[in-house]
Amino acid sequence: MSGSDEIILRVRRFDGTREWWQSYQIGLTGVTSVLDLLNKVREEKDHTLAFRQSCHMGTCGSCGMVINGKPRLACQTNISELNANVVNVEPMHNSPVIKDLVVGLDSLIENHKKVKPYIIRGKKEEVFNAPREFKVTQQGTTEFLQFDYCIMCNLCISACPTVTIDPLFLGPQALGQAFRYLADPRDEGWAERLELVDDDHGIWRCHFAGACSYVCPKDVDPAKAIQLMKKELLKKRLLIRRSKKGAEITEPLQPHLTEEKLTAAPPLDFKRGD
Ligand code: FES
Repeated sequence: MSGSDEIILRVRRFDGTREWWQSYQIGLTGVTSVLDLLNKVREEKDHTLAFRQSCHMGTCGSCGMVINGKPRLACQTNISELNANVVNVEPMHNSPVIKDLVVGLDSLIENHKKVKPYIIRGKKEEVFNAPREFKVTQQGTTEFLQFDYCIMCNLCISACPTVTIDPLFLGPQALGQAFRYLADPRDEGWAERLELVDDDHGIWRCHFAGACSYVCPKDVDPAKAIQLMKKELLKKRLLIRRSKKGAEITEPLQPHLTEEKLTAAPPLDFKRGD
């Protein structure tokens, strides 16, 4: 970006019937991120511009869009890092556009549900009426923790070339989450979950472009998860037993605060200005 205090924002718009690019010239005072820029345009120039936002801190996953050609979170993209006097924003690819930068997320949610994104136990009562806790070691945690950071922003799906050619592909988000639970030592759904991803629209569709991992704002690396899952599936087909050790079952930890300590806590009678 040159030293200019104004910038051109070009937005690819859609109103339900027609698509067009619209340009806005806007001052940069009070603006840091692309999301700030969009809010300023909506407040000062065009109330009809539609986009999603919530947390403004890269946590909720609402503000995904394609910014200067790359799927990104608008709240986490600083104008200065784009190094351009023109910012082009488009709705995420591979999802139906509802209005302007707002896309439909039905298939993201449906595919996520399909891979059973929760701990599966052989005995149902262990889930609904657990008498003990399942202890996960530090080592056990590292196997799935990276994949637990997914915020379901849909950016990986927007970047994935396989979703473009096969809209029924389960996609990097769902497959990343399938591996997250597969790698969890508390989970006993290994065979069941592998069957879910082993079909014409499952893991074998991925040809390891790696675009999903490249754009992930949380470094989740779904491409790695998919390759690791292929390895697990191969073991299953060769009837090699699962190497993962199950979680140890322990007595629940004692709460840190006893009832006496809680009642002895200072009363919450702060006044404004304290
Ligand atoms: Fe929540 Fe950007 S507004 S991730």
